[in-house]
Amino acid sequence: MNLRYKNKLILILFSYVLTACNSEIDLSEYDLSQGKKVYENLCLACHMVGMSGIAPKISNTSQWEYRIKQGMNVLIEHSINGFKEMPAKGGNPDLSDQEIKNAVAFMVSESL
Ligand code: HEC
Repeated sequence: MNLRYKNKLILILFSYVLTACNSEIDLSEYDLSQGKKVYENLCLACHMVGMSGIAPKISNTSQWEYRIKQGMNVLIEHSINGFKEMPAKGGNPDLSDQEIKNAVAFMVSESL
């Protein structure tokens, strides 16, 4: 095995490790089926189509990747309190924090 080939192999392995780390986000503490319902009742209005091209579209991994890297806590905080064009609690203050957390987890689980 020549050196150039070895380096390439190391690079490939390294990027596999990075990808693995990315998808190791832990969603086990969330109720994804409740989150799906919240999403379907409200969040999809903007996130299914990617409203005005600025709301990250569910399942569009490239639109979610850098957001997911912020970590669940930041995503949840932005969803509960609002963030730029994202209205607090998606515009429904009657939703509990837990329902928002589950909806964020559902959207992330569909967008990894
Ligand atoms: C009125 C449209 C609208 C609705 C309804 C809506 N969102 Fe959003 N959401 C947005 C927009 C626009 C952004 C992008 C904000 C930005 O980064 O400029 C966004 C961003 C987000 C983000 C990424 C935040 C970040 O830090 O990058 C999450 C998570 C999110 N929304 C979750 C939800 C959840 C959960 C619901 C339902 C409870 C919901 N959204 C409902 C418009 C909406």
